[in-house]
Amino acid sequence: MTLSIAFASLKGGVGKTTTALNCAYAFARRGSRTLLVDTDPQGAIGLSLDGLGDRAGLSANLGNSEAALAGVVKTRLPELQILPMGAVDALDVDSFAVQAREHDALRRIVDRSQQEYDVVLFDTPAGLGGMTRLALEAVESVVAVAQCEPLALRSLPRLIELLAQLRDAGGDCSLLGVVGNMSSFRDPVVLASLEELWGLYRDLVFETAIPRDSTFLQASRAGVPLGLLSRRPPGVAAVFDSLVAEIEARLGIVEGDNDGGPIRLVD
Ligand SMILES: Nc1ncnc2c1ncn2[C@@H]1O[C@H](COP(=O)(O)OP(=O)(O)OP(=O)(O)O)[C@@H](O)[C@H]1O
Ligand SMILES: [Mg+2]
Repeated sequence: MTLSIAFASLKGGVGKTTTALNCAYAFARRGSRTLLVDTDPQGAIGLSLDGLGDRAGLSANLGNSEAALAGVVKTRLPELQILPMGAVDALDVDSFAVQAREHDALRRIVDRSQQEYDVVLFDTPAGLGGMTRLALEAVESVVAVAQCEPLALRSLPRLIELLAQLRDAGGDCSLLGVVGNMSSFRDPVVLASLEELWGLYRDLVFETAIPRDSTFLQASRAGVPLGLLSRRPPGVAAVFDSLVAEIEARLGIVEGDNDGGPIRLVD
């Protein structure tokens, strides 16, 4: 069955798009047929990747239920495909989620992905309403992205509460975990936030924390995932392999009968 995961946070600018994009690349590099879907009317994935700028995408096919996956863009990595948002007129941003709900657009994407993909990842806009709410209703798992700073941590309970409310109302989406972003052991406030995250959410917190690193801005500037920034990928790109391995483990996906130990090279 296809896995569906949304990257979400009430607070903006915490690294949802960055995490979704680099996790999609890591999933694909690990051999999973991956679809990355941009649900943000701002078109954040389109802004992040060179070559997607003027493509049509989800927005162009919102009303066409038969064509939920029309607009999917192939990448040079055979296992990775992307459904960008495409252009949304600034005047239509408020009504966009209403239309998407009318057409059940995100659930249809999940339904239609069953044959072609192993995993569908949704980047969501900041906040818990609109497209984010639709994504939470469409997927089975959520990765909460928390910037290691006080305000982002204070907003985390609201997402957890909403997920509980959606489950009480019959939904089946659960919180897979919380990933700390922009961590640093040098800044005492950031370190204290990371410790608070571990203290409050314990086992929910992924062991992998994403460090604050200027390489992320270089990758944005170049319009590529970290792993494609140069022939010798920056060290921080490996963080997403580690995060995806944790996600896979939490979802119960382990290679063969591997139980977390070494993987045999030769059979
Ligand atoms: N670990 C990091 N180190 C340094 N910069 C980072 C890191 N993670 C994200 N950034 C940068 O922070 C900015 C915000 O990241 P991003 O766009 O991924 O956040 P977001 O949560 O998707 O924002 P929005 O709420 O607007 O959708 C971007 O410029 C991104 O390159
Ligand atoms: Mg974003």
